[in-house]
Amino acid sequence: MLRGSASTSPARPLVGREDLLGRARAALAGGGGVLFRGAPGVGTTRLVQELAAETGADGLLELRATASGAVVPLGVFLRPLGEALEAGADAVARHPGDPASPTGLVLLAAELRMRLTASGVRVVALDDAHLLDGPSAALLLDLAASGVRVLASLAEGAPAPDAVEALWRDGHCAVVAVPPLDEPASLALLAGVAGAAVDHGLGRALYSKCGGNPRLLAASLDAATRAGAAVLRSGMWVLVAPLPPLASVDDDTRRRVEALDAEARRALDVVAVAGGLRLERAAALVAAGGSSGRSAQGWSRSSRDRAARSCERRRRCSRTRRSTASPCSPGGAS
Ligand SMILES: Nc1ncnc2c1ncn2[C@@H]1O[C@H](COP(=O)(O)OP(=O)(O)OP(=O)(O)O)[C@@H](O)[C@H]1O
Ligand SMILES: [Mg+2]
Repeated sequence: MLRGSASTSPARPLVGREDLLGRARAALAGGGGVLFRGAPGVGTTRLVQELAAETGADGLLELRATASGAVVPLGVFLRPLGEALEAGADAVARHPGDPASPTGLVLLAAELRMRLTASGVRVVALDDAHLLDGPSAALLLDLAASGVRVLASLAEGAPAPDAVEALWRDGHCAVVAVPPLDEPASLALLAGVAGAAVDHGLGRALYSKCGGNPRLLAASLDAATRAGAAVLRSGMWVLVAPLPPLASVDDDTRRRVEALDAEARRALDVVAVAGGLRLERAAALVAAGGSSGRSAQGWSRSSRDRAARSCERRRRCSRTRRSTASPCSPGGAS
């Protein structure tokens, strides 16, 4: 059995990302920050961690935005805010109004900004910048504008606060797109996950199924060993049966659908039931002009995108059938 899983095992050596890290280091050397943007599971968090470790602990503030935290204004800064309040920086007490009021928030943000820069924060490493609440995003932009370098991960296609977009539009951060790993890097990653050599046939089958996505590769290999589709023979993992479907992809999809707001959910329902729809018709059925009508928050695409994806899926399916004779899972290559 494999050692741990993709989400719980200690970090394995990074593979196949030297070029991306090189570009990120160049951006840092130029005094700016970096936003790693990519699809779920492709390795954006890992790249932020790697780069943050290179900058050293001195002056580094590590933050993680979450969907739950986003309902609280300045939610991502709760920890530094708590520390500032403990240190007697009670901006709220100096302001007679409601701390949740716009004025109270402005005061808190100003206090935080002052505290953070005074305490020597030079680099903010932030995971999942697209999940920031608005005031946190605005404060982050403000910090970046005052010279703090921002290293952050960002989910491709997810709506992000405009202040996060301003990080790169205003030139504070370079955007480094994170593609899936290529095949040699995927095979190297699999060998690291397996803790033993991975037979070429198994490696190719997993790569065809997962398209170079590190999280999916690790999870698929784990699922294959658990299901007995991959077995250890003479110190090498080999494929002996079709790869099993990946339950975690269903879970991930369910989580993402549940996180949609009501309007986007309705847009997705309409598209799911109606299939291909003219954009104008879809917008009329949902809410005319709403952001969800435009994109259902990344779940719906224009017909040209859909045609390209369907072509790519057919290509992957035929490759997978040729190499493994296993059914092609629609989420396997996401
Ligand atoms: N290039 C790589 N080499 C080795 N391991 C990697 C690489 N990229 C990612 N990983 C590992 O794959 C897993 C998923 O990576 P990570 O958490 O960075 O993905 P992500 O893009 O942030 O996903 P999400 O934010 O959608 O959860 C982690 O265990 C990470 O250590
Ligand atoms: Mg991540």
